[in-house]
Amino acid sequence: MSEPIHPLVERINAATQHCTSVNGSLCFESDTARRGVINAAEQLLIAARSPEETLFAIAQQPAQNAALRCLMTLGVLDALPLNGDSRSLDDLAHAVGAEKTLLGRILRACTSTSLLSETSELRYAHNALSRTLLVPANRALLTLMYDYIGRGVLALPEFLQARKWKDSGSYADCSFMIGSHTDLPIWEYCEKDIVCGKTFDLGMQSEMVPALSAGKRGGQFPFGKELTAASALGIGDGEDTLTIVDLGGGRGQVLQEIRKNHPELSAARFVLMDLGPVIESAQAVGLPPWIEPVVGSFFEPFPIQGAHVYYLRRCLHNWDDAACKTILFNVANAMDATRSRLLITDMVVDNEGAARGTAWEDLGMMAIGGIERTERQWRALLGENGFRVHKIWHDDSGGHATIDARLK
Ligand SMILES: C[S@@+](CC[C@H](N)C(=O)[O-])C[C@H]1O[C@@H](n2cnc3c(N)ncnc32)[C@H](O)[C@@H]1O
Repeated sequence: MSEPIHPLVERINAATQHCTSVNGSLCFESDTARRGVINAAEQLLIAARSPEETLFAIAQQPAQNAALRCLMTLGVLDALPLNGDSRSLDDLAHAVGAEKTLLGRILRACTSTSLLSETSELRYAHNALSRTLLVPANRALLTLMYDYIGRGVLALPEFLQARKWKDSGSYADCSFMIGSHTDLPIWEYCEKDIVCGKTFDLGMQSEMVPALSAGKRGGQFPFGKELTAASALGIGDGEDTLTIVDLGGGRGQVLQEIRKNHPELSAARFVLMDLGPVIESAQAVGLPPWIEPVVGSFFEPFPIQGAHVYYLRRCLHNWDDAACKTILFNVANAMDATRSRLLITDMVVDNEGAARGTAWEDLGMMAIGGIERTERQWRALLGENGFRVHKIWHDDSGGHATIDARLK
């Protein structure tokens, strides 16, 4: 049942005492306050709508996603003036080569959800949402979510029903394959379909992926402080050089973020390990000279042994427990019993009252054979595979945490 409206309005009013407006954006005193407002506003929407309206709005979401996908493909985003001026439908249709009435219907669907601004009848302009889509990595991430993950998610009911709701599938048998009409699981598909592979790698560079800024946000793992404190030799040199291996590190986006946010680690050795095609694509777009790229697989012994840090960021959620067992076995074998640690940044789903973002992303992972884990599930997975949880650094901006794990 929905909450009464007045207390919700009061909650929102009270929360606005803890926020200021900076350049047109709201700035909250804390993430907890910000999330409180979002939560109350969503409850307000549910309270103000009838249950039928709410359910119908949920069922209409594929249309919203399709409008977003069309907007990204059409070229409208690049055809709109960057200075905020508007452009007419006639002009835009001519610029992007689309039929006018068709384009008008798509743009109407976009403006109705604020993906774009309608300044007057049939005139359109950029707004904060559409400007965010000007960043190629953001477009790639959202394309990936629509074209590949989203189609797998839509196929979940059919896939799960065929399995009589007894299990959620696995990497090599998941609803992604139904959605993408393929026999290949996701990483093999990325290797074969160059467009998908490149979209994936670029999408992973998007700052829209929560907690990209490892170590920057409150509660996240303080790489500089932790790693320099742990090494009596400081950064060291030669064989003792503080070595961070980013396993499944994509194009090196996370290593770059860590070094940027923690200049005290500049002299450390940063190793990027990923599959051959991903390392090639990272090199093709350009890696800084201080990143050492190595080709390696989670499922084979690692090329770098005895590093101080093995980092798995948003990787283990792609895999079920059986696959993680092999990955963790290889991590443990590479680790030095005294100086190495395993850092995992991934979602840690609340045991109760999980946030929508984590619950939805879990279904995205289910579609490719993975899972977003609760703290209890992480502790069990690590404990059963030779690790103990030293500390969990929660990111209070929602969902993610960094688990510092050591060999038992
Ligand atoms: C979800 S992405 C995360 C990328 C990066 N860690 C980040 O947080 O932005 C998962 C990464 O795992 C890599 N990957 C998939 N299978 C792998 C395997 N068998 N061995 C090594 N890396 C793999 C992918 O290429 C991809 O870069």
